[in-house]
Amino acid sequence: MDRGMFSSGLAVFFATLGSAVGLGNIWKFPYLTGQFGGGAFLMVYLLCIIFVGLPVMLSEFYLGRKSRKGAVGAFATLAPGTGGKFIGKMGVASSYLIMFFYSCVAGWVYYYLIKAISGDFAEITMESAKAQFGSVVVGPLTPIFWQFIVMAVVSAILIMGIKNGIERVTKTLMPVLFILIIICDIRALSLPGAMDGVRFLFEVDFSKLTGAAILTALGLAFFKLSLGIGTMITYASYFTKDNNLLGTAAKVALSDTLVSLLAGLAIFPTVFSFGLEPGAGPGLLFMTIPLVFSQMPFGNLLLISFFFLTSIAATTAMLSLVEVPVAYMTEEKGMSRTVAVLLNGLIIFGIGILATLSADKSSLLGGVTFMDRGFFDWFDYLSSNILMPLGGLLIVIFMSYVVDKKSIKEELTNNGSLNLNAFLPFFFIVIRYVTPALLIIIFLNAVGVIKL
Ligand code: TRP
Repeated sequence: MDRGMFSSGLAVFFATLGSAVGLGNIWKFPYLTGQFGGGAFLMVYLLCIIFVGLPVMLSEFYLGRKSRKGAVGAFATLAPGTGGKFIGKMGVASSYLIMFFYSCVAGWVYYYLIKAISGDFAEITMESAKAQFGSVVVGPLTPIFWQFIVMAVVSAILIMGIKNGIERVTKTLMPVLFILIIICDIRALSLPGAMDGVRFLFEVDFSKLTGAAILTALGLAFFKLSLGIGTMITYASYFTKDNNLLGTAAKVALSDTLVSLLAGLAIFPTVFSFGLEPGAGPGLLFMTIPLVFSQMPFGNLLLISFFFLTSIAATTAMLSLVEVPVAYMTEEKGMSRTVAVLLNGLIIFGIGILATLSADKSSLLGGVTFMDRGFFDWFDYLSSNILMPLGGLLIVIFMSYVVDKKSIKEELTNNGSLNLNAFLPFFFIVIRYVTPALLIIIFLNAVGVIKL
C-alpha cells in the first residue's frame, strides 16, 4: 500500500515545524518566560532543548524513518515481541487526550478570527473583553460549533493525504505565519513604552529561576517540540530517504524557538504600552489582544492577522496530532485513510465536547470534578505531566537498550553519507544517562513523589 511521503527536504522542514509551532508558542512560551525570569529562563529552556528535546526528537525520527511506520507499527517492526508496541499505544492514547482540549482552544481561536474579520472588537472595553471571552468559553453551543469546524478543517486536509494535504498546507501557511508575526512585531515594537515589554521578556533575573521554573522549562521544551507521544515518529515515517535528520531536528528546534520569541515580542510590548497586566495564559490571548489592537491605527487589520496566524499555528499542530491515530488505524487495523480520518474526527469532536463543556467553572459540566479537576484539566494534566514525559523516557530507554547502535548510526548518517563521528558518541551517552535522569525528575515531580 502506498502510504504517502513528503516530496522534499523543505516539505519535511515545514511540516515538522508546523507540528512544533502551535498554541504553545503564542501564549504559553512568552508568558512563562516573563514569569520565570526572562533571559535566565530562556537559557535553561535552551539547555532543555539540547539535552532533552533534541535527543528525544532525533530518537523519534530514527524510529519513524527506519521502520516507515507510525507510532505503534514502528515499535512492532523494529523490535517484534518486546512489548515496545505498548509505548506506541500509550502515545496514541496521549494524542487523544491532548486533542480533546486542544481542539476546544483552537475553536476559540477560529471564532475570534471570525469576530475580528466582522469588526466585532471595534468598541471593545476591558469589561466587555472579559465578558465576551467568558461567554465564549461557557457557551455552550458556540464553542462546540467551532470545535466542530476545527475538526472538519483538519479532517479535510488530512483526507487529501501526506503530500497533497499536510505538505501543501504547511508549505503555504508556515511562511505566511512568519510574515504576519513580523508585521505584528514591527507595530508592537514601535509603540510608546514598548521597551518595558522587551525587558519583561529578556531581562535576566536568576532569583526567579526556581526548581519549579526549571521543571516548567523542561515540560515546555517537550510540549513545544511535540515529543513523547509518537507524533514525530509518525511524521518521520514520511520523511525523504536522504533527509539529514540531525539537521532537520536542529532547524526545527531553532525556528520554533524563534517563533516563540517573535510571538513574545508582539504581545508584551503591546500589553505594557497599554499599561495592562501580563496575566496568564488564554486570558492574555483572548482578552488583552483584542483590547489593545483595537485601540491602535490599523488595529483591526493587525487583529485579523494575529488571530489568523494563531489559527494557522493551532491547525498545523492539530494535523500532526490527528495523524498519530490515523496512521495507527490505517496500518494496524487495515482501515482506509478516509475512513480513519473521519472516524477520528468524530471521536475527537465527540469526546472533546467534554473538555469544551468543562473549560470553566461556570460551564455546563464545570461542576463535575474528580479529585478537584474537571475533564478539561484532567486531559491536560494526564497528557502533559504524566504521559508525555513517561513516553519520552520509554522512547530513550528503548533506543538505548533495545535498538542496536549500528542501526541508529546507519539511519542517522544515511548509510554513512553524513559524517557524524563527533556527534554520535555524545548522543548515545545523552540518551542513555542524561535524558532519562532529567525525565525521571520531571515525572517524579509531576506525580508528587519529589517536590522541587
Ligand atoms: N507543539 C504544539 C504546540 O506547541 C502542540 C503539539 C502538537 C503537541 N503535536 C503534539 C504536543 C504532540 C505534544 C505532542 O502547541
